[in-house]
Amino acid sequence: MHEMNDFMIRLGLAFPIIQAPMAGGVTTVELVAEVAKAGGLGSIGAAYLTPEIIKINASAIRARTNGPFAINLFVGTDDPAPTPAEIAYTCDILRPWAEAYGVEPPSAPSAPIALDRQIEAMLEVCPPVFSFTFGLASEDLLSACRSRHILTMGTATTLEEVVALEQSGVDCICVQGMEAGGHRGTFLRPVEESLIGLMSLLGMAVQATSLPVIAAGGIMNGQGIRAVLDLGASAASLGTAFMVTDEAGTPPAHQHMLAEADPRPTVLTRAFSGRTARGITNRFHEHVSPHQNHLVPFPALNDMTRKIRQAAGLAGDAEALSLWAGQAYPLVRPMATAHLMAALVTEAHL
Ligand SMILES: Cc1cc2nc3c(=O)[nH]c(=O)nc-3n(C[C@H](O)[C@H](O)[C@H](O)COP(=O)(O)O)c2cc1C
Repeated sequence: MHEMNDFMIRLGLAFPIIQAPMAGGVTTVELVAEVAKAGGLGSIGAAYLTPEIIKINASAIRARTNGPFAINLFVGTDDPAPTPAEIAYTCDILRPWAEAYGVEPPSAPSAPIALDRQIEAMLEVCPPVFSFTFGLASEDLLSACRSRHILTMGTATTLEEVVALEQSGVDCICVQGMEAGGHRGTFLRPVEESLIGLMSLLGMAVQATSLPVIAAGGIMNGQGIRAVLDLGASAASLGTAFMVTDEAGTPPAHQHMLAEADPRPTVLTRAFSGRTARGITNRFHEHVSPHQNHLVPFPALNDMTRKIRQAAGLAGDAEALSLWAGQAYPLVRPMATAHLMAALVTEAHL
């Protein structure tokens, strides 16, 4: 039996296992609730959800379990507004893709959902954990969480970001190794200067901070969980491993690519959203990435590619989907979430 640590005690976790936040439909109510029921921490990737849906999802989770869960948002982004030249260039690049998938070619990005309204909804829901990525949360937000007993967890991809998060006053820090699937949480330096493997980053983080450190990136089984606990992590956060569970909302064509017997490499690309993310290479990445310096920035590009990605998903075609995946994705095991949690616990000797 693994020792309980402060992080687990504070949240009432039976096991130091976190289902990582994954925006874009993967983290369904069912997935989050099943992880919480099994003694882990489930996370809603809420960055693309309206305030109303955030509240509905939280109630639906609470109707299924008393277990803890996190709500995750993208904070601290001072994204530049797209220029008319970038919008025109993006329209030209995306037009053949829109035509190929039978959707209206994008003409301009629509306004993103306002972060302050998402934050209001999160505070109203009062989840056990508020986790965030892409930056630092404001002092006001951290103190609003503290007064509501919401544990705050920021994401760091470098030692410098670990220190900045600690100084900002968060309760715990998730270190995201360069192996991780999805968007890089990097916020202080260019991504190319912030690609650190989890083993290096975790070791530096536990030495630098006395806050609980959560490890994310490339952890696919209980052996990986055991390894990061031995290196000083308070919990392991797994994203890709949960994407092929029965309860995940991952599109079937994406799940098929994750479980493919002959795996393709993962790449870091800005082609889908305008922000660097790790995913399995496909035709859209190959065609659009060479143009990425001329396209609209995040989150405008995410909005302008959305209809194409959705149409590809409905058509069961992986070539225009953002196939987010961690480097270790060939180790995925499709099964029910409860079974995956049980396997992880056994393998990690928890
Ligand atoms: C599909 C997908 C979506 C993601 N979305 C988010 C997100 O909304 N917020 C966030 O903090 N991290 C996000 N991430 C990163 C994960 O939280 C986590 O760092 C990563 O999955 C860990 O690496 P692994 O996939 O190798 O387990 C996402 C990852 C994936 C695969």
